[in-house]
Amino acid sequence: MTTRARVLTQAGAPTVEAPLELVEPSGDLVRVRLTASGVCHSDLHVAVGEWTAPLPMVLGHEGAGVVEAVGPGVGTLRPGDHVALSWYAQCGRCRPCRQGSAWLCTGTRSTSHLLPDGRTSLRDAHGAPVHAFLGLGTFADATVVPEAAAVAVPGDVPARVAALIGCAVTTGVGAVLNTARVRPGDSAVVVGCGGVGQSILLGLSLVGADPIVAIDLSDERLEHARTLGATHLLRGDDPDLVAQVASITGDGADHAFEAIGRAETITLLPSLVGRGGQAVLVGMPAEGVRASIDPFDLADAGKRVLGCNYGSSVPAVDFPRIAQLYRSGRLPLDALVGAVRSLDEVDEAFTDLRNAVGLRTILDLTT
Ligand SMILES: NC(=O)c1ccc[n+]([C@@H]2O[C@H](COP(=O)([O-])OP(=O)(O)OC[C@H]3O[C@@H](n4cnc5c(N)ncnc54)[C@H](O)[C@@H]3O)[C@@H](O)[C@H]2O)c1
Ligand SMILES: [Zn+2]
Ligand SMILES: [Zn+2]
Repeated sequence: MTTRARVLTQAGAPTVEAPLELVEPSGDLVRVRLTASGVCHSDLHVAVGEWTAPLPMVLGHEGAGVVEAVGPGVGTLRPGDHVALSWYAQCGRCRPCRQGSAWLCTGTRSTSHLLPDGRTSLRDAHGAPVHAFLGLGTFADATVVPEAAAVAVPGDVPARVAALIGCAVTTGVGAVLNTARVRPGDSAVVVGCGGVGQSILLGLSLVGADPIVAIDLSDERLEHARTLGATHLLRGDDPDLVAQVASITGDGADHAFEAIGRAETITLLPSLVGRGGQAVLVGMPAEGVRASIDPFDLADAGKRVLGCNYGSSVPAVDFPRIAQLYRSGRLPLDALVGAVRSLDEVDEAFTDLRNAVGLRTILDLTT
Protein backbone atom coordinates (compact mmCIF):
# COMPACT_ATOMS: atom_id res chain seq x y z
CA MET A 1 0.00 0.00 0.00
CA THR A 2 1.20 3.51 -0.81
CA THR A 3 1.00 6.47 1.56
CA ARG A 4 1.39 10.17 0.80
CA ALA A 5 3.97 11.58 3.24
CA ARG A 6 6.20 14.57 3.97
CA VAL A 7 9.80 13.38 4.10
CA LEU A 8 12.78 15.03 5.81
CA THR A 9 15.86 14.20 3.74
CA GLN A 10 18.31 16.62 5.37
CA ALA A 11 18.25 18.45 8.71
CA GLY A 12 17.53 22.12 8.22
CA ALA A 13 16.03 21.59 4.75
CA PRO A 14 12.30 21.78 3.96
CA THR A 15 10.34 18.52 3.89
CA VAL A 16 9.33 17.09 0.50
CA GLU A 17 6.21 15.19 -0.46
CA ALA A 18 6.71 11.63 -1.65
CA PRO A 19 4.64 8.50 -2.12
CA LEU A 20 6.04 5.73 0.12
CA GLU A 21 5.33 2.03 0.37
CA LEU A 22 3.94 0.82 3.73
CA VAL A 23 4.69 -2.68 5.06
CA GLU A 24 1.79 -5.11 5.23
CA PRO A 25 0.07 -5.26 8.64
CA SER A 26 1.28 -8.77 9.52
CA GLY A 27 1.67 -10.27 13.02
CA ASP A 28 0.70 -7.70 15.66
CA LEU A 29 0.88 -4.75 13.26
CA VAL A 30 -2.00 -2.36 12.62
CA ARG A 31 -2.55 -0.11 9.60
CA VAL A 32 -4.09 3.22 10.56
CA ARG A 33 -5.66 5.72 8.16
CA LEU A 34 -4.44 8.96 9.74
CA THR A 35 -6.95 11.77 10.22
CA ALA A 36 -5.03 14.39 12.24
CA SER A 37 -1.54 15.12 13.51
CA GLY A 38 -0.25 17.78 15.88
CA VAL A 39 3.11 19.44 15.22
CA CYS A 40 5.21 19.14 18.39
CA HIS A 41 8.52 20.74 19.26
CA SER A 42 10.09 17.26 19.34
CA ASP A 43 9.47 17.08 15.54
CA LEU A 44 11.17 20.46 15.21
CA HIS A 45 14.19 19.26 17.27
CA VAL A 46 14.79 16.64 14.53
CA ALA A 47 13.87 18.90 11.60
CA VAL A 48 16.52 21.48 12.58
CA GLY A 49 19.17 18.89 13.55
CA GLU A 50 19.12 19.41 17.35
CA TRP A 51 18.42 15.68 17.68
CA THR A 52 20.20 13.23 15.39
CA ALA A 53 17.97 10.78 13.60
CA PRO A 54 18.37 8.41 10.65
CA LEU A 55 17.26 10.14 7.44
CA PRO A 56 15.24 10.08 5.30
CA MET A 57 12.45 10.17 7.86
CA VAL A 58 8.75 10.97 8.01
CA LEU A 59 8.32 13.16 11.10
CA GLY A 60 5.15 13.44 13.21
CA HIS A 61 4.36 11.54 16.40
CA GLU A 62 1.18 13.17 17.74
CA GLY A 63 -1.44 11.44 15.65
CA ALA A 64 -4.90 9.95 15.47
CA GLY A 65 -6.79 7.94 12.93
CA VAL A 66 -9.01 4.98 12.15
CA VAL A 67 -7.83 1.36 12.03
CA GLU A 68 -7.95 0.08 8.46
CA ALA A 69 -6.41 -3.40 8.72
CA VAL A 70 -4.98 -5.57 11.49
CA GLY A 71 -2.53 -8.47 11.52
CA PRO A 72 -3.66 -11.91 12.72
CA GLY A 73 -1.89 -11.44 16.09
CA VAL A 74 -3.83 -8.27 17.02
CA GLY A 75 -6.24 -8.81 19.90
CA THR A 76 -7.50 -5.41 21.03
CA LEU A 77 -8.34 -3.56 17.79
CA ARG A 78 -10.59 -4.02 14.77
CA PRO A 79 -10.96 -2.15 11.48
CA GLY A 80 -13.07 0.94 12.09
CA ASP A 81 -11.77 1.59 15.62
CA HIS A 82 -10.72 5.18 16.34
CA VAL A 83 -7.24 5.34 17.83
CA ALA A 84 -4.75 7.79 19.30
CA LEU A 85 -1.14 6.80 18.66
CA SER A 86 1.55 6.30 21.30
CA TRP A 87 5.13 7.21 20.39
CA TYR A 88 6.54 4.79 22.93
CA ALA A 89 5.23 1.33 22.02
CA GLN A 90 6.06 -0.74 25.08
CA CYS A 91 7.52 -4.22 24.52
CA GLY A 92 5.45 -5.69 27.35
CA ARG A 93 8.27 -8.02 28.43
CA CYS A 94 11.07 -5.95 29.99
CA ARG A 95 11.31 -5.27 33.73
CA PRO A 96 9.79 -1.74 33.65
CA CYS A 97 6.92 -3.04 31.48
CA ARG A 98 6.23 -5.91 33.89
CA GLN A 99 6.28 -3.43 36.77
CA GLY A 100 3.67 -1.26 35.03
CA SER A 101 6.09 1.52 34.05
CA ALA A 102 5.60 1.38 30.28
CA TRP A 103 7.14 4.86 29.86
CA LEU A 104 10.49 3.41 30.99
CA CYS A 105 10.38 0.36 28.64
CA THR A 106 13.86 -0.79 27.65
CA GLY A 107 12.70 -3.15 24.89
CA THR A 108 10.90 -0.66 22.65
CA ARG A 109 12.14 -0.08 19.09
CA SER A 110 10.09 3.14 18.82
CA THR A 111 13.02 5.29 19.90
CA SER A 112 15.06 3.75 17.05
CA HIS A 113 12.18 4.66 14.69
CA LEU A 114 11.65 1.00 13.82
CA LEU A 115 8.98 -1.67 14.04
CA PRO A 116 9.42 -4.26 16.84
CA ASP A 117 11.00 -6.69 14.33
CA GLY A 118 13.68 -4.13 13.42
CA ARG A 119 12.33 -3.16 9.98
CA THR A 120 11.31 0.33 8.93
CA SER A 121 7.59 0.59 8.22
CA LEU A 122 8.26 2.63 5.04
CA ARG A 123 10.23 2.27 1.79
CA ASP A 124 10.74 4.68 -1.07
CA ALA A 125 10.04 4.05 -4.76
CA HIS A 126 13.46 2.33 -5.10
CA GLY A 127 12.86 0.02 -2.13
CA ALA A 128 15.23 1.92 0.19
CA PRO A 129 14.17 2.12 3.85
CA VAL A 130 12.59 5.32 5.17
CA HIS A 131 12.25 5.77 8.94
CA ALA A 132 9.01 6.77 10.64
CA PHE A 133 9.72 9.11 13.60
CA LEU A 134 9.27 7.19 16.87
CA GLY A 135 7.76 4.37 14.83
CA LEU A 136 4.75 6.54 13.86
CA GLY A 137 5.56 9.08 11.11
CA THR A 138 2.21 10.88 11.31
CA PHE A 139 3.00 13.52 8.67
CA ALA A 140 1.39 11.13 6.21
CA ASP A 141 -2.08 9.87 5.36
CA ALA A 142 -1.48 6.34 6.70
CA THR A 143 0.94 4.46 8.96
CA VAL A 144 1.65 0.92 10.15
CA VAL A 145 2.40 0.55 13.87
CA PRO A 146 2.55 -2.21 16.48
CA GLU A 147 -0.67 -2.87 18.39
CA ALA A 148 0.96 -1.38 21.52
CA ALA A 149 1.22 1.98 19.74
CA ALA A 150 -2.48 2.29 18.85
CA VAL A 151 -4.96 2.87 21.66
CA ALA A 152 -8.71 2.92 21.05
CA VAL A 153 -10.48 6.14 21.99
CA PRO A 154 -14.23 6.84 21.70
CA GLY A 155 -15.26 7.82 18.18
CA ASP A 156 -16.94 11.01 19.43
CA VAL A 157 -13.57 12.50 20.47
CA PRO A 158 -12.61 14.80 17.55
CA ALA A 159 -9.54 13.64 15.62
CA ARG A 160 -7.62 16.84 16.46
CA VAL A 161 -8.16 16.23 20.19
CA ALA A 162 -7.28 12.52 19.92
CA ALA A 163 -4.07 13.53 18.14
CA LEU A 164 -3.07 15.87 20.96
CA ILE A 165 -3.75 13.10 23.48
CA GLY A 166 -1.02 11.22 21.62
CA CYS A 167 1.72 13.54 22.90
CA ALA A 168 1.25 17.03 24.41
CA VAL A 169 -1.78 16.26 26.56
CA THR A 170 -0.65 12.90 27.94
CA THR A 171 2.79 14.39 28.63
CA GLY A 172 1.51 17.56 30.31
CA VAL A 173 -1.46 16.17 32.22
CA GLY A 174 0.60 13.10 33.15
CA ALA A 175 3.43 15.29 34.45
CA VAL A 176 0.93 16.74 36.94
CA LEU A 177 -1.02 13.59 37.84
CA ASN A 178 1.62 10.85 37.58
CA THR A 179 5.09 12.38 37.79
CA ALA A 180 4.57 15.18 40.32
CA ARG A 181 1.33 13.90 41.92
CA VAL A 182 0.11 17.44 42.55
CA ARG A 183 -2.57 17.76 45.25
CA PRO A 184 -5.44 20.27 45.51
CA GLY A 185 -4.15 23.57 46.89
CA ASP A 186 -0.50 22.93 45.98
CA SER A 187 1.21 25.89 44.35
CA ALA A 188 2.74 25.44 40.90
CA VAL A 189 4.77 27.25 38.25
CA VAL A 190 4.87 26.39 34.55
CA VAL A 191 7.87 27.70 32.61
CA GLY A 192 7.04 27.60 28.89
CA CYS A 193 3.41 27.66 27.77
CA GLY A 194 3.47 25.95 24.38
CA GLY A 195 1.45 22.81 23.64
CA VAL A 196 3.04 20.84 26.49
CA GLY A 197 3.02 23.71 29.01
CA GLN A 198 -0.64 24.45 28.22
CA SER A 199 -1.45 20.80 28.90
CA ILE A 200 0.37 21.07 32.25
CA LEU A 201 -1.82 24.11 33.04
CA LEU A 202 -4.98 22.10 32.26
CA GLY A 203 -3.73 19.29 34.50
CA LEU A 204 -3.06 21.75 37.32
CA SER A 205 -6.56 23.23 36.95
CA LEU A 206 -8.04 19.72 36.95
CA VAL A 207 -6.50 18.85 40.31
CA GLY A 208 -7.14 22.28 41.84
CA ALA A 209 -3.60 23.60 42.22
CA ASP A 210 -3.52 27.19 43.50
CA PRO A 211 -1.86 29.53 42.77
CA ILE A 212 -0.80 28.59 39.24
CA VAL A 213 1.94 30.82 37.80
CA ALA A 214 2.50 30.78 34.02
CA ILE A 215 5.79 32.02 32.55
CA ASP A 216 6.46 32.61 28.84
CA LEU A 217 8.10 35.14 26.53
CA SER A 218 4.98 35.48 24.37
CA ASP A 219 2.24 37.80 25.62
CA GLU A 220 -0.23 35.91 23.43
CA ARG A 221 0.70 32.61 25.09
CA LEU A 222 0.46 34.23 28.55
CA GLU A 223 -3.04 35.58 27.89
CA HIS A 224 -4.05 32.13 26.68
CA ALA A 225 -2.53 30.59 29.82
CA ARG A 226 -4.95 32.66 31.88
CA THR A 227 -7.90 31.03 30.09
CA LEU A 228 -6.43 27.61 30.96
CA GLY A 229 -6.37 28.38 34.68
CA ALA A 230 -3.19 30.35 35.35
CA THR A 231 -3.78 32.75 38.26
CA HIS A 232 -0.58 34.77 37.72
CA LEU A 233 1.38 35.60 34.57
CA LEU A 234 5.08 36.44 34.42
CA ARG A 235 7.37 37.18 31.49
CA GLY A 236 10.34 34.84 31.10
CA ASP A 237 12.69 37.80 30.60
CA ASP A 238 11.68 39.35 33.96
CA PRO A 239 15.04 39.68 35.83
CA ASP A 240 13.18 39.24 39.13
CA LEU A 241 11.48 35.92 38.41
CA VAL A 242 12.67 34.12 41.55
CA ALA A 243 11.51 36.93 43.87
CA GLN A 244 8.21 37.30 42.00
CA VAL A 245 7.41 33.58 42.27
CA ALA A 246 8.45 33.58 45.94
CA SER A 247 6.11 36.45 46.68
CA ILE A 248 3.15 34.87 44.84
CA THR A 249 3.59 31.41 46.38
CA GLY A 250 4.73 32.38 49.88
CA ASP A 251 8.22 30.93 49.84
CA GLY A 252 8.62 29.24 46.47
CA ALA A 253 6.27 26.86 44.69
CA ASP A 254 5.48 23.27 45.65
CA HIS A 255 6.01 22.26 42.00
CA ALA A 256 7.76 23.90 39.06
CA PHE A 257 7.56 22.44 35.55
CA GLU A 258 9.99 23.29 32.74
CA ALA A 259 8.34 22.74 29.34
CA ILE A 260 10.83 24.34 26.96
CA GLY A 261 14.09 22.39 27.04
CA ARG A 262 16.53 25.30 27.53
CA ALA A 263 19.59 25.14 29.79
CA GLU A 264 18.84 28.59 31.29
CA THR A 265 15.29 27.76 32.37
CA ILE A 266 16.27 24.26 33.55
CA THR A 267 19.01 25.81 35.71
CA LEU A 268 16.51 28.34 37.06
CA LEU A 269 13.83 25.77 37.89
CA PRO A 270 14.95 24.58 41.38
CA SER A 271 15.18 28.19 42.56
CA LEU A 272 11.46 28.63 41.81
CA VAL A 273 10.43 25.90 44.29
CA GLY A 274 10.33 26.22 48.08
CA ARG A 275 11.61 23.88 50.76
CA GLY A 276 10.63 20.30 49.92
CA GLY A 277 9.45 21.40 46.48
CA GLN A 278 9.78 19.55 43.19
CA ALA A 279 11.37 20.73 39.94
CA VAL A 280 9.96 18.64 37.09
CA LEU A 281 11.90 18.48 33.81
CA VAL A 282 9.47 17.95 30.93
CA GLY A 283 11.13 19.97 28.16
CA MET A 284 13.82 18.12 26.22
CA PRO A 285 16.93 20.07 25.20
CA ALA A 286 19.08 19.71 22.12
CA GLU A 287 21.51 16.79 22.40
CA GLY A 288 24.59 17.55 24.47
CA VAL A 289 23.10 20.49 26.42
CA ARG A 290 24.19 20.60 30.07
CA ALA A 291 22.56 22.53 32.90
CA SER A 292 24.03 23.26 36.31
CA ILE A 293 22.54 22.70 39.75
CA ASP A 294 23.16 24.25 43.16
CA PRO A 295 23.70 21.09 45.23
CA PHE A 296 23.82 22.94 48.55
CA ASP A 297 20.38 24.46 47.92
CA LEU A 298 18.92 21.09 46.81
CA ALA A 299 20.28 19.26 49.86
CA ASP A 300 19.63 22.01 52.39
CA ALA A 301 16.06 22.70 51.25
CA GLY A 302 15.20 19.05 50.54
CA LYS A 303 14.26 19.88 46.95
CA ARG A 304 13.73 17.22 44.33
CA VAL A 305 14.47 17.23 40.61
CA LEU A 306 12.28 14.80 38.65
CA GLY A 307 12.63 13.74 35.03
CA CYS A 308 9.36 13.25 33.14
CA ASN A 309 9.11 11.06 30.04
CA TYR A 310 5.65 10.94 28.40
CA GLY A 311 4.01 12.12 31.63
CA SER A 312 5.02 8.85 33.34
CA SER A 313 1.99 7.44 31.52
CA VAL A 314 0.80 4.05 30.36
CA PRO A 315 -1.00 4.90 27.11
CA ALA A 316 -3.45 1.99 27.31
CA VAL A 317 -4.56 3.31 30.73
CA ASP A 318 -4.04 7.05 30.41
CA PHE A 319 -5.35 7.75 26.86
CA PRO A 320 -8.87 6.44 27.64
CA ARG A 321 -8.85 8.20 31.03
CA ILE A 322 -7.91 11.54 29.45
CA ALA A 323 -10.43 11.02 26.63
CA GLN A 324 -13.18 10.48 29.22
CA LEU A 325 -12.14 13.60 31.19
CA TYR A 326 -12.46 15.51 27.89
CA ARG A 327 -15.91 14.05 27.17
CA SER A 328 -17.15 14.95 30.64
CA GLY A 329 -15.93 18.54 30.23
CA ARG A 330 -13.24 18.39 32.91
CA LEU A 331 -10.33 18.71 30.46
CA PRO A 332 -11.28 21.34 27.83
CA LEU A 333 -8.78 20.11 25.25
CA ASP A 334 -10.37 22.03 22.35
CA ALA A 335 -8.71 25.09 23.91
CA LEU A 336 -5.30 23.74 22.85
CA VAL A 337 -6.08 23.59 19.13
CA GLY A 338 -4.53 26.31 16.98
CA ALA A 339 -4.35 26.66 13.21
CA VAL A 340 -5.59 23.73 11.14
CA ARG A 341 -3.41 23.19 8.09
CA SER A 342 -3.03 20.63 5.31
CA LEU A 343 -0.21 18.06 5.09
CA ASP A 344 1.71 20.14 2.55
CA GLU A 345 1.98 23.01 5.07
CA VAL A 346 4.24 21.20 7.57
CA ASP A 347 7.11 23.63 7.03
CA GLU A 348 4.85 26.65 7.63
CA ALA A 349 3.73 24.95 10.86
CA PHE A 350 7.39 24.56 11.88
CA THR A 351 7.97 28.27 11.27
CA ASP A 352 5.02 29.15 13.54
CA LEU A 353 6.26 26.71 16.19
CA ARG A 354 9.78 28.17 16.12
CA ASN A 355 8.39 31.69 16.52
CA ALA A 356 5.77 30.70 19.13
CA VAL A 357 3.00 32.06 16.88
CA GLY A 358 -0.54 30.81 17.56
CA LEU A 359 -1.35 27.61 19.44
CA ARG A 360 -0.66 23.97 18.51
CA THR A 361 -0.97 23.48 14.73
CA ILE A 362 -3.08 20.52 13.68
CA LEU A 363 -2.60 18.94 10.27
CA ASP A 364 -5.92 17.79 8.82
CA LEU A 365 -4.88 14.59 7.01
CA THR A 366 -8.29 13.87 5.51
CA THR A 367 -7.97 16.51 2.78
N1 LIG B 1 9.09 14.84 28.27
C1 LIG B 1 8.38 14.43 27.24
O1 LIG B 1 7.97 13.28 27.18
C2 LIG B 1 8.06 15.40 26.14
C3 LIG B 1 6.95 15.20 25.33
C4 LIG B 1 6.66 16.16 24.36
C5 LIG B 1 7.47 17.26 24.19
N2 LIG B 1 8.57 17.40 24.98
C6 LIG B 1 9.45 18.57 24.87
O2 LIG B 1 8.82 19.64 25.55
C7 LIG B 1 9.31 20.88 25.03
C8 LIG B 1 8.15 21.79 24.72
O3 LIG B 1 7.41 21.28 23.62
P1 LIG B 1 6.21 22.14 22.98
O4 LIG B 1 5.75 21.38 21.80
O5 LIG B 1 5.27 22.57 24.03
O6 LIG B 1 7.06 23.41 22.48
P2 LIG B 1 6.57 24.87 22.11
O7 LIG B 1 7.60 25.44 21.21
O8 LIG B 1 5.14 24.82 21.65
O9 LIG B 1 6.56 25.65 23.51
C9 LIG B 1 7.70 26.22 24.10
C10 LIG B 1 7.25 27.51 24.79
O10 LIG B 1 8.35 28.03 25.54
C11 LIG B 1 8.34 29.43 25.44
N3 LIG B 1 9.69 29.93 25.76
C12 LIG B 1 10.81 29.86 25.00
N4 LIG B 1 11.86 30.39 25.68
C13 LIG B 1 11.38 30.81 26.87
C14 LIG B 1 11.97 31.42 28.01
N5 LIG B 1 13.28 31.72 28.05
N6 LIG B 1 11.18 31.69 29.09
C15 LIG B 1 9.86 31.40 29.06
N7 LIG B 1 9.25 30.81 28.01
C16 LIG B 1 10.00 30.52 26.94
C17 LIG B 1 7.89 29.69 24.01
O11 LIG B 1 7.38 31.01 23.85
C18 LIG B 1 6.82 28.62 23.84
O12 LIG B 1 5.54 29.11 24.22
C19 LIG B 1 10.19 20.50 23.83
O13 LIG B 1 11.54 20.44 24.23
C20 LIG B 1 9.72 19.09 23.49
O14 LIG B 1 10.72 18.35 22.81
C21 LIG B 1 8.87 16.51 25.97
ZN1 LIG C 1 5.63 15.43 21.14
ZN1 LIG D 1 9.27 -3.05 27.80
